[in-house]
Amino acid sequence: MPDIAALACALPKAELHLHIEGTLEPELAFELAGRHGVTLPWPDVQALRAAYDFSDLQSFLDLYYAGADVLRTRQDFHDLTWAYLLRARADHLRHVEIFFDPQTHTARGVPMAEVIDGIHGALVRGRDELDISFRLILSFLRHLPESEALDTLAQARPFLDRIDGVGLDSSEHGHPPSKFRQVFARCRALGLPVVAHAGEEGPPAYIEEALDLLHAQRIDHGVRAIESEELLDRLARQQVPLTVCPLSNVKLKVYPDLRKHPLRDMLARGLKVTINSDDPAYFGGYVNANFTACVQALGLTQDDVVALARNSIEASWLDTVRREALLAEIDDTVRGWRGAN
Ligand code: ADE
Ligand code: ZN
Repeated sequence: MPDIAALACALPKAELHLHIEGTLEPELAFELAGRHGVTLPWPDVQALRAAYDFSDLQSFLDLYYAGADVLRTRQDFHDLTWAYLLRARADHLRHVEIFFDPQTHTARGVPMAEVIDGIHGALVRGRDELDISFRLILSFLRHLPESEALDTLAQARPFLDRIDGVGLDSSEHGHPPSKFRQVFARCRALGLPVVAHAGEEGPPAYIEEALDLLHAQRIDHGVRAIESEELLDRLARQQVPLTVCPLSNVKLKVYPDLRKHPLRDMLARGLKVTINSDDPAYFGGYVNANFTACVQALGLTQDDVVALARNSIEASWLDTVRREALLAEIDDTVRGWRGAN
C-alpha cells in the first residue's frame, strides 16, 4: 500500500497562510519571558500547552494576543521567524508567504521598525541559508476600527519596500470586509496585492465582500463557501485560491472532527485549495502534520496531494522562473516516488 502521507511530506511546497505570531512555541515563549524578566501567567511549558484548548476563534485569539507580549525586540522577532523557517525547511517548504500583525505590537509600544527588521532579517537569512523564498504580508486586525488600520498603513509607509501585500485577520463575526473598504483601496493604490480571511467563522457573504469590495486575490480559509452553490461555482470558475487550514479548523471547532472537514469536497468541486498551518504552535502541527492528518482522516489520494502541492506554488506570488522551477521539483519528486512504489 503506497504511503500517500510520506509522498505529501516529501513534496516541495509553499505555505501561504501562516501568522508568524502563531509560531510561538511555549518553549520559546518562556525563553523570551526570561530574556525580558516577564512572568507569564502559567508556571511552565506544560501548563501553557495545556491551556491550548479552544472553544472558538475568539477564545484562541485571547491567548494568542496575550502570548505575543513576550515579543519585544528585533532579536525576538528574528528568533521567532528563524525557528519557523527551520521547521518549514524540515517540511520541504520552498516558499513561504507569512502574515504579521503590526497592531498587536505597536499597541504595546514596540516600534514598527523592530518588528519588520526582525522578521524580514530572518526571512532574508532563510532565503540565503535555507533556499526558502518568501513574501511578507502586513495584516490588519479587523476587530479594531478602520481608522486604526489607516494609521497602521501610514506607520508602515517607510517600510513598504519590505512589505509584499496586505491581509485582514482577527475576530470575524460582526467585522465584515466592507468595514475596511477605504484602507484596502489605499493599499491597492500603493500597488499592494490583497488577501483576506473570510468564511472561517463568518458567512459566505463575507467571502463575496472580500472579493468584490477588497479585491482580494486569495481567500484565507474560505471553508464556509461550501454552504453556497453559487459561490462554489464562482470560486471554481475564477480559480480563486483558498488557503485552507485543516488542523486550525478542528482546533477552533469550525468542524467537530477532521473527518467532517470539506477539503476533499472542495477539491472535487475544482476549487484551487491549498493546505496551510495558520498558527501551528497552537493548533497541533505545521504543514506536514496538516497533510498527514488530512491523508489519514479524509483518505486523500496521490493525485489530491500532488494537486495541493502544485496549487500552493501556483497560488503564490512567486515570479515565473522560480514558480516553474518549483513545479518541476514537484514533478521530479513524484517520478522518484512512483519509481520506488
Ligand atoms: N489570527 C491568527 N490566526 C487567525 C485565524 N485563524 N483567524 C483569524 N485571525 C487570526
Ligand atoms: Zn489565519
